[in-house]
Amino acid sequence: MAAAFGTVFMPEMAITWFDGSDWSVPEMVSSDSITLHPGAHVLHYSSTCFEGLKAFRHTDGSVNIFRMDRNIARLSQSSRLLGLPALDDATVAQMIKDTVARFADEVPAPPGSLYIRPTHFGTEPAIGKAAVPSVTSCFYVLASPVGDYFAGGDKALRLLLEDQGMRCAPHMGMIKSGGNYASALQPIMRARDSVQADQVLFCPGGDVQETGAANFLLIDGNEIITKALDESFLHGVTRESILTLAKDLGMQVSEREITVDELLQRAAKPGCEAALSGTAAVLAPVGTFIYQGKEHAVGHGGVGETTRKLRQALNAIQWGQAEDTHGWLTRV
Ligand SMILES: Cc1ncc(COP(=O)(O)O)c(C=O)c1O
Repeated sequence: MAAAFGTVFMPEMAITWFDGSDWSVPEMVSSDSITLHPGAHVLHYSSTCFEGLKAFRHTDGSVNIFRMDRNIARLSQSSRLLGLPALDDATVAQMIKDTVARFADEVPAPPGSLYIRPTHFGTEPAIGKAAVPSVTSCFYVLASPVGDYFAGGDKALRLLLEDQGMRCAPHMGMIKSGGNYASALQPIMRARDSVQADQVLFCPGGDVQETGAANFLLIDGNEIITKALDESFLHGVTRESILTLAKDLGMQVSEREITVDELLQRAAKPGCEAALSGTAAVLAPVGTFIYQGKEHAVGHGGVGETTRKLRQALNAIQWGQAEDTHGWLTRV
């Protein structure tokens, strides 16, 4: 059986430390451990943010990183909003490229890829700083070869619509920070146990937002509807890429608020589709909404044709089978 996503790591990683005034010269070190003071800020006050992006092997042998600039920009935003020391974007880009280049020979061929996990966290040994940022930090780039996300078959997901709780504090949503995942865990575990849902779609007060680790898109005929960007949810790079490709294909893209009521009304139409977008799954079909104890099929309840077509369009660029017309790939 293939290893679970994200459990195998390349043996080395690029790392740099901020001592309060300067970043150390980045170096490649063993990825099996790092040394932290037990009072490190991150371990107590969750001063951590990270990214997830992928490198792909093309048939010409080259290795290409997808939308590295967007992920670096989001990391920089997350770091700033958490009060972490500022990273230099050019240094981060070089560390990502160095880590991928170091293991270029081990990047799996499509549908596999090398998943890249840049991580930044506060290291200051200061347990009295609950309300003060860490002045020191560490940044590293960990890499993990991953296989086909859909290896078990491309099955439509079941989502519980949660309109009471929220994924995380509203002002934290657009920060890719560990605490947000911790905050979402209880409702997700409850949804798995109680109604065998695959994921929870958080819709606080009826406002359809996102799931625990992916953005949400509704596809109704030629229209694709998704929540407009605000600070309450993560601005997915896959979401932005899919919307761009949808426009290229002549679809109408509506970035606006969508309520649970509208969602259920549209889902009842035969041609309606829903999907989750994210780096790991690209675009995963949603077949069922569970709301207030009732199950609602989305369209015919299976894998939607437009969902499949959009995923193929994105994969084709990532895998070097279609022209990279938007300049999304960085060759290592
Ligand atoms: C909460 C959350 N929303 C959305 C996404 C999708 O973001 P992206 O497409 O950049 O991977 C992720 C993915 O990591 C996520 O964790």
